Amino acid sequence: MRAIISRLLHTESSLPRLYTVAFSRNGRLLSTDSNKVDEPLKVQEAETVDVPPPPTEKLLVLGGNGFVGSHVCQEALNRGLSVSSLSRSGRSSVHDSWANSVVWHQGNLLSSDSLKDSLNGVTAVISCVGGFGSNSYMYKINGTANINAIRSAAEQGVKRFVYISAADFGLVNYLLQGYYEGKRAAETELLTRFPYGGVILRPGFIHGTRQVGSMKLPLGVIGAPLEMILQHAKPLDRVPLVGPLFIPPVNVTSVAKVAVRAATDPVFPPGIIDVYGIQRYSQQK
Ligand SMILES: NC(=O)c1ccc[n+]([C@@H]2O[C@H](COP(=O)([O-])OP(=O)(O)OC[C@H]3O[C@@H](n4cnc5c(N)ncnc54)[C@H](OP(=O)(O)O)[C@@H]3O)[C@@H](O)[C@H]2O)c1
Repeated sequence: MRAIISRLLHTESSLPRLYTVAFSRNGRLLSTDSNKVDEPLKVQEAETVDVPPPPTEKLLVLGGNGFVGSHVCQEALNRGLSVSSLSRSGRSSVHDSWANSVVWHQGNLLSSDSLKDSLNGVTAVISCVGGFGSNSYMYKINGTANINAIRSAAEQGVKRFVYISAADFGLVNYLLQGYYEGKRAAETELLTRFPYGGVILRPGFIHGTRQVGSMKLPLGVIGAPLEMILQHAKPLDRVPLVGPLFIPPVNVTSVAKVAVRAATDPVFPPGIIDVYGIQRYSQQK
């Protein structure tokens, strides 16, 4: 806690006067200088504190049997969290030993109330639910399904919710309209329902090892070299029309690491984290 307070106090080198800062019970900052309420204490991007989360943290991963979700589950288990997952098929194709430490729930986020039981005692949720298909299907799976989850989690008093969304890809957005409209609708719901504990990750292409049936597909063979090259080409992603194609891919373990940290670190800033933010946070100890 001392480390967190000291980080927050070292944000503006030239604060006009010394504020006395206290924490309220819900963790928000209160200024006790009653004469000066019009100069908000500016907090720069929080440098998160890498301490293991308390054992009471209970994480629910939506889509924990998918590509990103299975890496999120492993990262959370490595950090000592109690982990459960919900998806339509439950544990399904995951046969690795780490999967024995996850509590697997079966449920469809498109049907109301399917989440209620699995949210019992949960302190944070990470949603890795999304997919492709017809425009109306993509809207439902990326939008409606996640909106249902965000609402249920807020109603059950979950503290933090992380949503794996997707980067803007310019023209591609138009071609995959349902996908992007669904993503943005879920993002809006998250920022409304979780103004202090809602975090949106917007990766581009995610590479790593993807389980397809009994096969492991090494997507990193293409993704890793591309990531190396494109991470130095940031100005190019602002070029009209083709710019978004230069968004660097990101490793699935980086996405998982940042997602778990965002779900458990009380000073992780709420809001949208783009690809470069994901790379930056994943490199922090
Ligand atoms: N992979 C990428 O390159 C990439 C890039 C940018 C963003 N993203 C985003 O990252 C997220 C995860 O992607 P991914 O590649 O890991 O996808 P994935 O492997 O297809 O995983 C999707 C997960 O969602 C679950 N799911 C789907 N519909 C559901 C429903 N109605 N109710 C409950 N669970 C449901 C699936 O399990 P069941 O089938 O068993 O239900 C699965 O576990 C998605 O939102 C995706 O849009 C991915």
